[in-house]
Amino acid sequence: MKIYVPIDAAARALGSDEVAEALAVALKAQGVEAQIVRNGTRGMIWLEPLVEVDLDGTRVGFGPFEVEDVPALVAEIASGLTVESRQHPRALGPVEELDWMKGQQRLTFARVGVIDPVDIHDYVAHGGLAGLKAAIAAGPEKIIEEVMASGLRGRGGAGFPTAIKWKTVGGAAGPQKYIVCNADEGDSGSFADRMLMEGDPLCLIEGMAIAGVAVGATMGYVYIRSEYPDAIRAMNDAIKAGREYGMLGKSMLGSDYAYDMEVRVGAGAYVCGEETSLLNSLEGKRGIVRAKPPIPALVGFMGRPTVVNNVLSLGAVPWILEHGGAAYGALGIGRSKGTIPIQIAGNVKFGGLYEAAFGMKLGDIIDVIGGGTLSGRPVKFAQVGGPLGAYIPVKNFDLPFGYEELATKEGLLGHAGITVFDDTADSLKLARFAMEFCAVESCGKCTPCRIGSTRGVETIDRIAEGDVEAIEILKDLCNTMKWGSLCALGGFAPFPVMSLLTHFPEDFTNRGHGRREAAE
Ligand code: NAI
Ligand code: SF4
Repeated sequence: MKIYVPIDAAARALGSDEVAEALAVALKAQGVEAQIVRNGTRGMIWLEPLVEVDLDGTRVGFGPFEVEDVPALVAEIASGLTVESRQHPRALGPVEELDWMKGQQRLTFARVGVIDPVDIHDYVAHGGLAGLKAAIAAGPEKIIEEVMASGLRGRGGAGFPTAIKWKTVGGAAGPQKYIVCNADEGDSGSFADRMLMEGDPLCLIEGMAIAGVAVGATMGYVYIRSEYPDAIRAMNDAIKAGREYGMLGKSMLGSDYAYDMEVRVGAGAYVCGEETSLLNSLEGKRGIVRAKPPIPALVGFMGRPTVVNNVLSLGAVPWILEHGGAAYGALGIGRSKGTIPIQIAGNVKFGGLYEAAFGMKLGDIIDVIGGGTLSGRPVKFAQVGGPLGAYIPVKNFDLPFGYEELATKEGLLGHAGITVFDDTADSLKLARFAMEFCAVESCGKCTPCRIGSTRGVETIDRIAEGDVEAIEILKDLCNTMKWGSLCALGGFAPFPVMSLLTHFPEDFTNRGHGRREAAE
């Protein structure tokens, strides 16, 4: 019998290590033969630690599990636990039948929470390597055709067509090309990259290897932020397993294609998620933005043509190659094709990761999937796309989740993180946070961002003291930053500020009356 206890960082933070340890001791004491497997998370964070007992292929869940729940579970297992049994106070029934799981279309995350993340045999037994095998058989041109047919766009946030990027790198001249995976995931409220790397690192490795075959790159790097020690460990272990299996190396899976890769750890600067800054950091230089052009596809890592893709873009590729680009492209809406791993966080009842085809209404994601606010108060707005994303008010919750669809209301899909706030949220404080965040994280290369963000904080402080005339100055400043900044950090910081000013002007005008009046 196998018992699964997640090793995902979120589950560990909630006590899964202690649960695994207590289970091992109790099973031994009771003489119950069972193997404890440390899996990734299913994404239902409110149920973590989620313990799963495999009963002839049906995974029965118990959660949120605590060490005190161990004796009752072990006793039940010893006396013959069944799929139907609901005796245990934490019993949830078959995990795949929970509403959260049933509603999803898990393509990229199909194996996350299911397999032992660094056991390549488990990976292969669950369909792993089928995409790489298909890619090796198809060759570079056909791979890019499939990715083009899938409509896959950059999941880091910019939404640039992946196949066009690969085509540019593939067509570039150069003795050496590289695949660089951006796993810097700096957006607050985003955790999909981490979950994939911790729960199914071989999927990312396979996606990178396929990209290598497609563009003629023989070496790759995955750049992971230092705040993700579990992901770093899982990726390193998986790369080792991949090499031993022959998935990586001079002759991938016995083919004529060579590809190998390594992990590189970033020191933890938000701006190193910007691709040129990341490349500088990867080269051992200061993480500062480079002017584009030249684009990294032509002049990237060490001056060579380089594919820089996000974890989720590369993680989608094995499925696309296995099932065909058309099958992926058949999902979604408009120009947003396939599935998107949505990350639901903030003041929400059911937070976690939910992979679904593009097109769900924002309100359904928050109210139905997320279950509304944890505080029980009405939702005021949700910030979509990380700290640089716009705050979307409830009146716009009928927006479908897609790149262009959100953009119609000045929204940004970003890395598909959603942070929910209730009606006690103070728009002015959040606007100040956006400017402060930009000031702290600015690389300092360009004036609108370096100086503008600090002036932005000061201007919002003036508004907080009741100086309503400073509102126009803030709008003007936002405009300068939006159009004058060199990269997305300074260029997007105005989005949250402007969205709050537009939709909640009263939060900016009804301030500091007493103080101002007294001063006058
Ligand atoms: P961008 O629009 O400048 O470029 C998008 C990508 O397409 C880049 O990789 C670029 O090199 C590539 N590209 C452009 N033209 C090309 C061509 N002709 N051939 C090949 N490749 C080409 O956007 P950028 O600055 O890379 O990213 C901005 C986005 O990053 C924002 O939309 C924001 O949502 C997102 N972001 C994500 C964060 C995260 O934590 N995931 C953090 C901060 C921002
Ligand atoms: Fe650096 Fe900010 Fe300019 Fe980007 S916008 S280059 S982070 S100073």
